[in-house]
Amino acid sequence: MKTQTARQIETRFRPRGRRYPKIYAFILECGGSTKSTSCTSMAVEGADRGYTGTVFDFDANMSTTRILGYDETSLKGRKTVLDLIHGTATLDEVALPARYRIGDGYDDDAFAYIPGLRVVPSCSEMASADTAIAEDADRQDWFAELLLSYDGDEDVFWCDFPASYGRMVYSVLRMLDEGDSVIPSVKADPKDVQYLVPLFTELERIREKNRLRRSVPGRPTINHLILTGTPTPTYREAPARRAVQLAESLYSDILTPYIRYSGDAKKLYEDWCPLPILLPNSYPAVDYRKLMTGIGFTRRD
Ligand SMILES: Nc1ncnc2c1ncn2[C@@H]1O[C@H](COP(=O)(O)OP(=O)(O)OP(=O)(O)O)[C@@H](O)[C@H]1O
Ligand SMILES: [Mg+2]
Repeated sequence: MKTQTARQIETRFRPRGRRYPKIYAFILECGGSTKSTSCTSMAVEGADRGYTGTVFDFDANMSTTRILGYDETSLKGRKTVLDLIHGTATLDEVALPARYRIGDGYDDDAFAYIPGLRVVPSCSEMASADTAIAEDADRQDWFAELLLSYDGDEDVFWCDFPASYGRMVYSVLRMLDEGDSVIPSVKADPKDVQYLVPLFTELERIREKNRLRRSVPGRPTINHLILTGTPTPTYREAPARRAVQLAESLYSDILTPYIRYSGDAKKLYEDWCPLPILLPNSYPAVDYRKLMTGIGFTRRD
């Protein structure tokens, strides 16, 4: 996103002085672990506080695309993230202004727009992305090319992933440096917390594979762990309490403030609206605000 007079970009959003934004990657090989909810809530809260960005939806389930205002009908004839992988469109041709529903239908007045935030929409064919990369080795470089040709001034790339570690995920994660952030967003359930070990293993594999490479940073690192759906005065499930204890005993060094449970959170998908806008006073919305302040996204003047 270019402005007419180039904005001064804070150095923390350009790790090692590079020209493309800081990347936050929401990933865990565990379905329904709250990756998309955390990704969209943080991106929207960040934009509201003055931090511009683009949200990439890499998941064929299109959750993030929908929460930020687009479905198959509104995307008919438009380019998607798959065009970026195939090299048939540029980032600026694919990214759409993030928005949310305020009425029925598909006319422009059915939506309100979120200033400073774009979304790279997914599509159901993203399920074929791993095969597309396997068929043509050059395609593995699609994200590297996108980053190296970037000349905008956004602060953050927010990346929402599917619950799997395939070639497409690798093509993105290998471009992360230690100054970026891999964020597993984990539901407070002991079963889900156990999925962290394979994620650490996968990131270690990526670091090891790229250790001697010079053209690829190859250092994806977990700096924050988000635990969601934690107990409240009325939500006191034993597994949620056990999961908090487990996460505290194993990962206290990276745990961010908890995101408490709300039975209403599932409405995001029915209403096409991100949590901070749909339910601004809910426990999780309050907690995402606290989390954002805690990781340095204080409101800009
Ligand atoms: N704080 C919360 N409290 C209770 N439920 C929540 C909370 N945050 C998210 N949820 C619900 O958990 C479910 C899974 O969330 P979400 O879709 O964000 O997970 P995901 O990891 O992206 O899933 P997938 O792997 O299918 O893409 C949704 O129904 C969502 O509304
Ligand atoms: Mg998701």
